[in-house]
Amino acid sequence: MNLTQADFQERRDRLAEQMGPNSIAIIATSPEVMRNRDADYKFRADSSFFYLTGFAEPEAVATIETDESGEEYVYTLFCRERDREMEIWNGYRAGIDGAVDDYEADEACAIDLLDEEILEKLKNKQKLYARLGQRTDFDARITGWIQKAEQQSRGGGDVPSEIQQLDRILDEMRLHKSTKEIQLMQIASDISAEAHTRAMQAVQPNMMEYALEAELNYVFGKNGCVPSYNSIVGGGRNGCILHYVENNQPLKDGDLVLIDAACEYQLYASDITRTFPVNGKFSPEQKALYQVVLDAQIAAIDAIRIGNNYKEPHRVAVQILVQGLLDLGIMQGTLESIIADDSYRQFYMHGTGHWLGMDVHDVGSYKLDGEYRTYEEGMVVTVEPGLYIAPDDESVDEKWRGIGIRIEDDVVATASGPLVLTKNVVKSIDDIEALMAQS
Ligand code: GLY
Ligand code: MN
Ligand code: MN
Repeated sequence: MNLTQADFQERRDRLAEQMGPNSIAIIATSPEVMRNRDADYKFRADSSFFYLTGFAEPEAVATIETDESGEEYVYTLFCRERDREMEIWNGYRAGIDGAVDDYEADEACAIDLLDEEILEKLKNKQKLYARLGQRTDFDARITGWIQKAEQQSRGGGDVPSEIQQLDRILDEMRLHKSTKEIQLMQIASDISAEAHTRAMQAVQPNMMEYALEAELNYVFGKNGCVPSYNSIVGGGRNGCILHYVENNQPLKDGDLVLIDAACEYQLYASDITRTFPVNGKFSPEQKALYQVVLDAQIAAIDAIRIGNNYKEPHRVAVQILVQGLLDLGIMQGTLESIIADDSYRQFYMHGTGHWLGMDVHDVGSYKLDGEYRTYEEGMVVTVEPGLYIAPDDESVDEKWRGIGIRIEDDVVATASGPLVLTKNVVKSIDDIEALMAQS
C-alpha cells in the first residue's frame, strides 16, 4: 500500500481551491538537525510538506501559485541539484529533472536559487500563505523576502498585501483522513501491535527496560519502520512518570511494566500503550486498578461517535476512573465533588486523547468558535486513560503506591461507530495473562 503521485496531486488541488486567486503558498520541509559533532539525527520530512509533495529529501521548499481566475495553479519544487560527489557521500538526489518527472512538479528549481526566484513569484500576488510560527529561521526568511519585494516594487502594490496562516487550511485537510490514509495507519497499528505482543512474550523479571525496548525496535525495524515517538518502557514506579524515556532500570518481579511505544509507516503514526505484569500475573491491587482503567478506556472508546463532542470520551473516562478510586477506597468524597474540584488529577493528570495522523500529536483544532468540535468521519483520535499512584503518596494506603497504568488505543470515527485500529494487541487481564503464560 503506497500513496501515489495522484494522491499528492489531489491534495495540492484541494489546497489551491481554497487559496483563492492570485495567491502563493510557500512551504518548507524540516531542517536537518545535528545530534553531535558530524553526526546528524536521521532526517524525517516535515509532515505537512510531505503531505503535499511526497518528497522526502531534506532542503526542499514547495510553492503553489494560483492564477487570476483561481482555477489553475503552478506547483514548483525547489530541491537540491544532482551532484555526483555529494551523492557518493550522502545518497541519491532526485534533482531538478526528478522533481518534474517523478514528483510531478510543474516547475523545479535549485534550492540555492530560492531567494532570487521567490521574489519573482511574489510579484503580482495578493495573498501569501505561509506556516508562521513553526520555524523562526524560515519565518525570518519570508519576512526578508517581503521586505525585498516591497523595496523592488517601490510601494507599487504588486506584492502580497495579505498574509494568511497556511496551516489553517492544511491542518483541517490532514485532520480528515482518507480511506487510504486510514489503511496506512492500520498498517502502522498492526506492526505496533505485533511489537507490543512480542514485548509481552519476551518480558522476564530482571530484564532491563532497554532490553524490552529492543524487542519493540526489532519488530519496527524488520518492517521498515521507525518509532513514531520516543518509546516509554517504565517498570513499577517508572510507570508513574508520564514521559519516562530513560528506560535504563531493571524490571522487577511483582511490578507492572508500562510500554507506550509505536511506529510510523510511510510517515503515518500509531500510538499504543499497554501495561502488564513483569512476571505474567497481576497482583490483586494491580488487577483492581487495571480493571478500572480498562473499563474507563472501553467506555471512552464507545464515545467516539460522529456528532459527539470531542471531550465526551474524557468525560466518560473520568466518571469511571473516579468511581473506581472511590470503590477501592483510594479517594474519599462524592463522585460529583471530586470531579467538580478536579481533585482526581492527583491520580489522573492528563487528557484522554489527541488527534493522531502523520504526527503523533497530530494537527487539527480541537475547538471551533470557542467550543469543542464534534467527531466527524475519518478523524482519528487516541483513547488513553490511566491511573498513577505516586510512590511517595502518603495519602494512599501503601499497597497502591508506585502503580502506574495506562491503556491506549487508536480509534477512527466512522458512520458505523468507533473503529479501533490497534485491536490486535490484547488488553483484558485474562487475555494478557493467557498470552504471557504461553511464553
Ligand atoms: N505517546 C505519546 C502520547 O501518548 O501522547
Ligand atoms: Mn497518545
Ligand atoms: Mn502514547
